[in-house]
Amino acid sequence: MKPERLDKALAGQSTWSRREVRDWIRQGLVTVDGIPVKSPEQKLDWEQHRVVVAGKELSLRPRLYLMMNKPAGVVSATRDDGCPTVVDLVPPQLRRRGLFPAGRLDKDTTGMMVITDDGALAHRILSPKSHVPKTYLARLDRPVTAEMAERFAAGIPLAGEEGACLPAALETVEETLARVVLWEGMYHQIKRMFAACGARVVELHRVAMGALPLDSGLAPGECRELTPEELVLLQARDEGPSVGKGL
Ligand code: URA
Repeated sequence: MKPERLDKALAGQSTWSRREVRDWIRQGLVTVDGIPVKSPEQKLDWEQHRVVVAGKELSLRPRLYLMMNKPAGVVSATRDDGCPTVVDLVPPQLRRRGLFPAGRLDKDTTGMMVITDDGALAHRILSPKSHVPKTYLARLDRPVTAEMAERFAAGIPLAGEEGACLPAALETVEETLARVVLWEGMYHQIKRMFAACGARVVELHRVAMGALPLDSGLAPGECRELTPEELVLLQARDEGPSVGKGL
């Protein structure tokens, strides 16, 4: 990472404006490696410098990757007029400009959500061409059947313009609980796939993305940063049942 101007770096990794950062520098509230900063143009090397603002050390990273346990009743968007969003739930110390949820979950769906400011990463984990699986637990209003699994594996045709779904994996966990793995993300996809099989999804919870499971220590609404190792697991490919179908 190239050294960057201090005011740009700090404003880019927070919700502060550059003007606020400059004001603090002027007031002597910003130190780099213990030395008060004199100019907002001072260059900052992300990996080497220790930056303290008003007595609080900042942990600077060019991009932020958060795992959230999305609760029901919250929309997976950056902003919404009537409802809290997953971005609203990010605690102040982790907030920064440009955060967005990588992919959508319905308002009533719970579980794993990645929130980031890295558009390229989001594209990589969401594009069906990347073969990054998303794993869900779906509670149905009736028993899971072998026929449902066969239809999921063959690719369920959806009403509308989207055509058929890619082949998906379905496994019975309990009589009315199924584990479903998708390699794409169409609107209400799992609910519509089960509806095509005559079943209604009464609860839906995402348990993993790529090879990364949801941290069971995260209470609904909580989030935390991913470790570098977890970031690799998040992007893990699994060719899945679509291999040989043009992807
Ligand atoms: N499929 C759905 O129907 N809803 C979700 O939130 C995710 C997948």
